[in-house]
Amino acid sequence: MMSKSRAATMRVLVSAVSLLLTACNAPSPDTASLKYSEDLYDGCVQCHGENGEGNPVVGSPSIAGLERWYVKKQLRGFKNGYRGFHPSDLAGKRMVPMARALDTDEKVDVVANYVASMEPTHPAPTLEGGNPETGKIYFATCVQCHGANARGVLDEFGPPLAGASDWYLLTQLQNFKSGARGTHPDDAMGAKMRPFSMTLPTEQAMKDVIAYIGTLSE
Ligand code: HEC
Ligand code: HEC
Repeated sequence: MMSKSRAATMRVLVSAVSLLLTACNAPSPDTASLKYSEDLYDGCVQCHGENGEGNPVVGSPSIAGLERWYVKKQLRGFKNGYRGFHPSDLAGKRMVPMARALDTDEKVDVVANYVASMEPTHPAPTLEGGNPETGKIYFATCVQCHGANARGVLDEFGPPLAGASDWYLLTQLQNFKSGARGTHPDDAMGAKMRPFSMTLPTEQAMKDVIAYIGTLSE
């Protein structure tokens, strides 16, 4: 039998190694075959589409080409209840059971890799009336965390916005503003984003900034 202190040392070692792996965003082992990834992604197709292009009819955004760290983080958020928790966030609630179905960290990893490896689909614009010129001025505030090209800034945990469904960007900005996203005590990154949604005073301002992001998506 292992002595108590030895078992404790082992536990510390094991958690240190898993921490390290998480910190390095280590790629999952090659043993995770393509077939296995595809089987896991089958559970997403119904809403996010074969190519991760999303489906506005069911309120599911394009996800193809999102950064893998961001996908993992959002899946964890839906799973652990810091996304989709708010009573008014009905779209977020639809995603919760889907994230819970990925019942191990390994499955979350594999599916996040798969989503990140998909080619961005650049969904056609659906919003009208946004002025990209005005949007460019608003976007200056966003650059620090989302990048001048809106491709995301890992150091700030700001996800890519270029290539996202425009209607989805609008609902998320509205969610941050209303507090449906970014107000859960465990959602530090959402809380970091929330004050910047306040720099867009009106729906028009949101549409303007989204129109500008659209010009960066080509
Ligand atoms: C029943 C429909 C449905 C299924 C199935 C589904 N999703 Fe979703 N997903 C949604 C909806 C709706 C949203 C938008 C939530 C919101 O508006 O906050 C979403 C959001 C997401 C997001 C957040 C995107 C972002 O930019 O923050 C990720 C990542 C995601 N889904 C991944 C997946 C993966 C991976 C699977 C399969 C394991 C999956 N989804 C299955 C409906 C679904
Ligand atoms: C201080 C850093 C910071 C600034 C500045 C910032 N954001 Fe964010 N933003 C974030 C972070 C971090 C997230 C991811 C939150 C999470 O993990 O749930 C985010 C998420 C978002 C999302 C949701 C994306 C998705 O896929 O669900 C949108 C939309 C967004 N930001 C738009 C903007 C816009 C527009 C501006 C400028 C007006 C802006 N952000 C300024 C940090 C920032």
